[in-house]
Amino acid sequence: MGFEICRQLASSGLTVVLTARNETRGAEAVDRLRGLGLPDVVFHQLDITEPASAARLADFVRSKFGRLDVLINNAGILGVTMEVGDEAAIKEMLADMDDMEKLEWIRKHTTEPYDKAKECLITNYHGTKIVTEALLPLLQFSSHGRVVNVSSDFGLLRELNNIDSLSVQRLDELSEFFLKDFKNGQLEPHGWPTEGGYPAYKVSKALTMLIRESLQTST
Ligand SMILES: NC(=O)c1ccc[n+]([C@@H]2O[C@H](COP(=O)([O-])OP(=O)(O)OC[C@H]3O[C@@H](n4cnc5c(N)ncnc54)[C@H](OP(=O)(O)O)[C@@H]3O)[C@@H](O)[C@H]2O)c1
Repeated sequence: MGFEICRQLASSGLTVVLTARNETRGAEAVDRLRGLGLPDVVFHQLDITEPASAARLADFVRSKFGRLDVLINNAGILGVTMEVGDEAAIKEMLADMDDMEKLEWIRKHTTEPYDKAKECLITNYHGTKIVTEALLPLLQFSSHGRVVNVSSDFGLLRELNNIDSLSVQRLDELSEFFLKDFKNGQLEPHGWPTEGGYPAYKVSKALTMLIRESLQTST
């Protein structure tokens, strides 16, 4: 999805800074876009979970462009382990399924141990927050700065709709409470979403949807 987002934005005339953790894969993606006749795409390395990496990206954008018009937070993980047999055969089989069948198949063939749930919160929620905080000052130099967080239908949680006193601290606290309850087997008694699986993904995406608003509240 990230590649397609970059392709469409570059096609509509924007200069795109494409990021990836892996420099080789990121540079390859830029080459592919340039090969499609889109020269205004540049690469910068970014691991969204590393504040120093986000700071380096912000320095790069500041020195090269002086401002940022749109930040798209697309990077995200499902936070599960999957027993992979023949990866190509699995991909082929999944391609023939509709979205619900796909999700059901993946759910049956994956597990979500605590370390993966933690990685999911660290990447999807904390990582998105780290990058947004680092780039927010540059968005403020734009006359139409905007942040787009790629979420999921799974992020629509009634449980988090009415958080009182919305703030980054409150979201961090909820992320910690969730992981503590996950570790202690207390998700269901404490009202976290467990039906249909992927509780860490659902909570991480729901918290992510509140980052922008909570940063605006505290700036
Ligand atoms: N696919 C769907 O049906 C669907 C539905 C709803 C929402 N979404 C959301 O849409 C977004 C894109 O999904 P996708 O299906 O395109 O997933 P994907 O193919 O797995 O792509 C996710 C990308 O995030 C990157 N990433 C993961 N951790 C990172 C980190 N710490 N720092 C920097 N990059 C990191 C991955 O990089 P590497 O290549 O280095 O791992 C990968 O390129 C995600 O936020 C996902 O939750 C997807």
